Amino acid sequence: MATVPQYLAWAERRIAKVVTQEGLHLGLMKVVQGPLTLTFCVRLLQPTPATLRRVLGLGPTLAQALQVESVRITDSAAGILLEIPSPVQRTPSAEMLASHTQGLTVAVGLDQFRRPVRVDLRQHGALLWVGPSRRGKTESLKSTVYGLARANPWHRLEYVVLSQKGADWASFASATGCRGVVTQPSECAQVLEWVAGELLPQRAGAARGQTAMLVVVDDLLNLLERVPDAAGPLAEIASMGAGLGVHLLAGTQEAGSRRGTGGPAVESNCTCRIVYRSTSAAAAARATGLKESGVAQLTSARGDALLVMDGESKRIATGWADDRLVLQLAQGRSALVPWRSESRSQNESERGKTGQNGQNGLVLPSPLIPTPLHEGGRETQNENAPLLPSDRPPTASERVLLRELYAALGSKEKVYPLAWGFKNGKVYGWLTDALAEVFEYDAAD
Ligand SMILES: Nc1ncnc2c1ncn2[C@@H]1O[C@H](COP(=O)(O)OP(=O)(O)OP(=O)(O)O)[C@@H](O)[C@H]1O
Ligand SMILES: [Mg+2]
Repeated sequence: MATVPQYLAWAERRIAKVVTQEGLHLGLMKVVQGPLTLTFCVRLLQPTPATLRRVLGLGPTLAQALQVESVRITDSAAGILLEIPSPVQRTPSAEMLASHTQGLTVAVGLDQFRRPVRVDLRQHGALLWVGPSRRGKTESLKSTVYGLARANPWHRLEYVVLSQKGADWASFASATGCRGVVTQPSECAQVLEWVAGELLPQRAGAARGQTAMLVVVDDLLNLLERVPDAAGPLAEIASMGAGLGVHLLAGTQEAGSRRGTGGPAVESNCTCRIVYRSTSAAAAARATGLKESGVAQLTSARGDALLVMDGESKRIATGWADDRLVLQLAQGRSALVPWRSESRSQNESERGKTGQNGQNGLVLPSPLIPTPLHEGGRETQNENAPLLPSDRPPTASERVLLRELYAALGSKEKVYPLAWGFKNGKVYGWLTDALAEVFEYDAAD
């Protein structure tokens, strides 16, 4: 088998032949091996609008000459880029992308020059991954969530994953920032209603910045089929979330339809999209929201995608997440399942107390809060009883719980009744001290 330099030399000769036959004069500036492509950076020696148009239209001819799936040609600041599929494909690992993620600015892939491409979540309330089956959407979503989870301690970032394929996300289930991996459609609906109906209004009324919350929906099309009413809360999250630190990260097999995304109210707020090669030009236009996006010039290689952000598109190779890596995230998932707190049936509460969820098997007790907080333990605890004893200050793990309660509820006043059943000067001091620990941690971080 030819090595990459041998292949490059052969491809260069083929490209030169086509270009000469067309009567065009191109100068080769450099060739860069990217994760999925070999990019020839060329420039026109005698540029005119007509010759530029002709070069940009050479893609299908070059694909024939090189016997490859597609050749993408774009005009850029770095020159005219001829991107041909690389014979050696190396999409980035989640670890590699995580090393380029900082705070809420997450690396979602590498461009054709192997440079990380980042998205600042504070600018984008909703991110959408669109593409047919088996293109790499789930892996890219997992890499993105992994990068964010690694870059942010749990008190700065939390996430809940809604996916019919629980096995894909099981490695996240007991990570510290993970509020749950929910697989049952009915519980997915509860989560979305909780976010739209409780979390967003709470945050809208709160004065200062709070923990960022990611609502990850893998396979939105599937969820919408089972829970058509999910479109309403999804639209609210997508439209209001960005300013309130709540972000929707959703993967789907099609866009441009109520069936695939929940409709225009969701899509118009998805200002950042990662789009894989579509099955038709019409599907590509619906997926990107652009008339001419270049999606048709991508290959069907896993991870080969366009990042469309604020109307501009960029080719990227999206990540692949090894579950063994994900399992290395700090472990100790929150025991709080706030979307179930009000509507829990007796059965569900029993399962919750024993740390098992018969619905999806993935809501686990938190190792962070390993022991029951009252004498006699959770097993025998009255559901409405306060969570903490009021005859002594909270222990370290109980202070973690207090901070989680505060992050989830958004106000101290809501924490007192849940934690101790009342408020007085003593519990006020305990809660203030527990929250202050986070700020010390922040300062030293
Ligand atoms: N960037 C990548 N590099 C290499 N392999 C990948 C990459 N992304 C995904 N894969 C592999 O491709 C297969 C399909 O990936 P994935 O499950 O992410 O696809 P999908 O787009 O989510 O499909 P579906 O719509 O059916 O859920 C998996 O076996 C996965 O390991
Ligand atoms: Mg998937």
